[in-house]
Amino acid sequence: MDKKLEELQNRLKEAHLGGGVKRIERQHAQKKLTARERVMYLLDEGSFEEMGALVTHRTTDFGMEDQQFYGDGVITGYGTIHNRLVYVYAQDFTVFGGSLSETHAEKICKVMDLAVRVGAPVIGLNDSGGARIQEGVRSLGGYADIFYRNVQASGVVPQLSAIMGPCAGGAVYSPAMTDFILMVEETSYMFVTGPNVVKTVTNETVSSEELGGATTHAVKSGVAHRTASNDVVCLEDLRTLLSYLPQNNREKAPDLPYELDTEWREELGGIVPENPNKPYDMHEVIGGIIDSDSFFEIHKDYAENIITGFARLAGKSIGIVANQPMFLAGVLDSNSSRKAARFTRFCDSFNIPLLILVDVPGFLPGTDQEWSGIIMHGAKLLYALSEATVPRITVITRKAYGGAYDVMNSKHIGADLNYAWPGAEIAVMGAKGASEIIFRKEIKEAADPERELAEKEAAYAAKFANPYRAAKRGFIDEVIVPNETRRKLIKGFASLQNKEVAQPRRKHGNIPL
Ligand code: HXC
Repeated sequence: MDKKLEELQNRLKEAHLGGGVKRIERQHAQKKLTARERVMYLLDEGSFEEMGALVTHRTTDFGMEDQQFYGDGVITGYGTIHNRLVYVYAQDFTVFGGSLSETHAEKICKVMDLAVRVGAPVIGLNDSGGARIQEGVRSLGGYADIFYRNVQASGVVPQLSAIMGPCAGGAVYSPAMTDFILMVEETSYMFVTGPNVVKTVTNETVSSEELGGATTHAVKSGVAHRTASNDVVCLEDLRTLLSYLPQNNREKAPDLPYELDTEWREELGGIVPENPNKPYDMHEVIGGIIDSDSFFEIHKDYAENIITGFARLAGKSIGIVANQPMFLAGVLDSNSSRKAARFTRFCDSFNIPLLILVDVPGFLPGTDQEWSGIIMHGAKLLYALSEATVPRITVITRKAYGGAYDVMNSKHIGADLNYAWPGAEIAVMGAKGASEIIFRKEIKEAADPERELAEKEAAYAAKFANPYRAAKRGFIDEVIVPNETRRKLIKGFASLQNKEVAQPRRKHGNIPL
C-alpha cells in the first residue's frame, strides 16, 4: 500500500508542477501568477477540490505522445468564495501555452455541466494561446463544446471570466459569451487575430497592447467590464463581484444584515446645480443613496455618459443605471445604450432589482450616431428595460427629455415606482429648443426676435420645466425631497420584494441586436 500511495503522491506532485519549474519561473518573471496560485488566491483558503489533475492529452501527431503533462494545461474543480460554492477552471500557460486541446476542453465542460446541474457560478481564469495547434479540428470542436455550454448556462448561473494572459483566437469567444470580463493591465490581451496577422491582412502596424490590451478593451471596445493592476487585484475583484450576485437564476443575491435608521442624507440636497446647463457628478448622487462604499462599477471607462454598477441598499444587492451629466451632458448614444441594456439584462436574469437615476437631455444627434445605428442601439435599452420583471424604481434628478424620458424606465414601460426631485424637468425637449420650433413664425416676425425667444422660452419653461405635469397624470408617483431619497428607495424596494409578473408564452423575444 505504501508504494501505491507513494506513486499517487509522485503523480500529483508532477501535476502540481504543470509545465515545469523553468516555465513557472518565466510566468513569474512576466509578473503573472501560475494557474494554481490564482485558484488559491481566488477561493476561500483550503476550499479547493481539484478534478482531473491526472488527465493527459491523447494526441500522437508531431511527437506529442512524448510530451505529456498532467492536467493538460487547465486546472479544474470547485471550492468556495465567501463560503458559497463556485466552479472554477484556470488555464495553465506553462503547459503548451495554456492552449486548448480536446481533453482540456472536456475538463472545462465537465465543471460547466456540474455548475449548471447544482446551480453555482462558473469562473474561468483564461491564459491561453488558443486552439492547440497540434490537434487541428479536435481542438476547434472542443471550443465549440464550451461555447455551446456558455450559451446554455447564460441566464442560469453567473459566468465570470478573468483574462490573465495572452488570449487569442478561440480563447476570446468563450469569455465573450460570459456575463463579465475582467482583464489584468499590461499582461493580458484579447484579439481574434494578433498583430502579425493584422499586418499581413490590413497592413496596419499595431502592438498587442494597442490592439487588444486591457485599456483598449475597457475604453474603446467595451469588451472588458473592468481592469485590474495585477493578478491579485483581479482575483479580489472577482470575489467582490460575486458577493453582489445570487448563485443562480432561482435565487436572490445574499443580504447583509441591516437595521433601518432615519436614512436622511443631507448631502443629496446640494448636488444638482441651480443652472440646468451646469454638469454635476452623478456618482455623488449614487454615493448619497447607497450603503457606504458599496458601489462596484461596471464598464467605468466605457461610454461614461451612463453609469452602471452594483451596490447595496440597506444590505440588499441592487443594480444601478444612471445618466452621467458630466459626460456629453448625459445623453444617450449608441455605446451608452448598449452598455446599459446589457447590464439591465444581466440584473433581470439574476433577480437583482434595478434603480434608474435619470438626468438625460435626449438622444445624441448627428450622422455619426445615425450611421452607427443609434436607432437600433437605443432600442436595445428600451427593449431591455421594458422586458425586465425585477423590481424597478426610477428617480428623475433633473432632465428627462423626449424619447429618453420614455426609455429611462418610465412608468409607461413597466417601472414600479417613479420619483422625481422638485427640480426635475419632464418635457419633450429643453425650453429653448422647443420655443424655437413651435414659435418659429412669431419669433421671426417679432420686432426684437431675441427678446421674443427669451419670453417664449420662459413661458415654456414655466409650463414644462418641472415635474408637476407628469405628477398630475400619475406618470410620477411622488415628487420627493432629495434628502429623503435613500429612505424612499429602501422602503420602495422592500415593498416590491415579492413582485411577480406573469409572462405570455413565447420561445424568446427578438431584441434588436
Ligand atoms: C500549441 C502553443 C500554442 C498553441 C503557444 N504554444 N500557443 N502550443 N498550440 N496555440 C506554446 C509554445 O509553443 C510554447 O511552448 C509555449 O506555448 C509558450 O509560447 P510562447 O510563444 O513561447 O509564449 P509568448 O512569447 O508569451 O507568446 C504567447 C502567444 C504565442 C502570443 C500566445 O504563443 C502565440 O501567438 N501563440 C499562437 C496563437 C494562435 O495563433 N493560436 C491559434 C488561434 S486559432 P514551449 O514548449 O516553448 O514552452 C484558434 C481557432 C479557434 O484559436 C477558433 C474558434 C472560434
